[in-house]
Amino acid sequence: MKAKLLVGLGLPLVLGAMMLFAGGAGQSVHAAQAPQDDTPGVRGAMLYDNWFAALNVAAPAGNMPLWDTQTTNTRSGEDTWRCVTCHGWDYLGKDGAYGSGSNYTGFPGVTGAREKSAAEIVAVLKGESNTLHDFSTFFSEDDLNDLAEFVQIAESGYVNLTTLKVEGGDIAAGEQLYDAQCASCHGADGALLKFRFEGRDATLGTLALLDPWRFLHKTQYGTPGTDMVIGAHIGSTLENGRDILLYAQSLPSGLEIQEAQPPLAGDETEATEAVGGPAGGLFSGIATAFGAMLTSLGFAVLLGAFLVGVIFLVVWLVRDRKSK
Ligand code: HEC
Ligand code: HEC
Repeated sequence: MKAKLLVGLGLPLVLGAMMLFAGGAGQSVHAAQAPQDDTPGVRGAMLYDNWFAALNVAAPAGNMPLWDTQTTNTRSGEDTWRCVTCHGWDYLGKDGAYGSGSNYTGFPGVTGAREKSAAEIVAVLKGESNTLHDFSTFFSEDDLNDLAEFVQIAESGYVNLTTLKVEGGDIAAGEQLYDAQCASCHGADGALLKFRFEGRDATLGTLALLDPWRFLHKTQYGTPGTDMVIGAHIGSTLENGRDILLYAQSLPSGLEIQEAQPPLAGDETEATEAVGGPAGGLFSGIATAFGAMLTSLGFAVLLGAFLVGVIFLVVWLVRDRKSK
């Protein structure tokens, strides 16, 4: 009983201390949620993620009117008002990750509007081309302009749409950035803060593998209403985020390893050492597989030698007899 109580008290204290430490480390964590934010795209990106959390207002009641023009996606309520629910973390809507599965709506992405002027995008958000897409009662002119600014820069590269693996990237650089900027809150293994993701418990490793675009968006623009650090505020670029994502995809995820991954030339031992413990799961798995292959190869060689020996013996015996 006592021990449980102590743990129950101790854990929040330790977590709290870590948060304080991270906050004190000069990472401008708290400025993150400031309503005025002039770092390009950040405020718009937060509104895109969850505008009612970012604006600290209640979500509208019921479903977004456009939502009911589709039937494939069974979500309802608050989430249907978020830009991301219809347009996706990769900003590609039906042409991207939301092109199938439970997130499918058939709605387009926003990247098609990237070349539009801010005024044209604001007009779309005021429902001027489709009256059901009217957000004007919820947003100020500043909000609308920030959203337009984000739409103009929203970029969804780096991740293979089929394998969900990062394309390119530098895992060693990602590891360094992760340890410096993220581990204080998320833990070296990404499991210190627990998430719920589509009905399952998730660590950062799980999120990195299952929804890499969401990971990228959150890493660059934060999570509205939380203390999550904002990459853009600490000088992080999308490329930095890509490297961190690549590293995070090697953190423990709690997912079965569904496919054999090619060894990441040279980097794997380093990553294993730095993360330690279960983080090595994938790599030690690969090592074990290689070990097994080597063992069976050795066995095959021995067996071969043995058979050759037997054949020699038989031939020799037969010849021996004949010569007698
Ligand atoms: C309920 C689903 C839904 C939500 C929520 C939603 N949209 Fe849309 N959006 C659509 C659909 C459907 C279209 C195509 C509308 C049409 O018929 O013109 C669209 C069109 C757009 C376009 C124009 C795309 C192009 O290629 O011209 C932009 C930009 C856009 N939305 C941005 C946003 C932003 C920003 C938000 C959040 C404030 C948002 N949307 C919220 C469904 C949604
Ligand atoms: C000051 C503490 C802090 C730091 C530093 C921090 N995070 Fe976070 N992070 C959080 C909190 C708090 C959340 C929100 C948890 C929630 O949604 O309940 C979060 C959420 C996230 C999410 C979103 C999970 C989701 O909902 O999809 C990702 C991804 C993430 N962090 C990655 C990172 C990365 C990468 C770094 C380093 C660049 C980092 N975090 C640094 C505290 C932090």
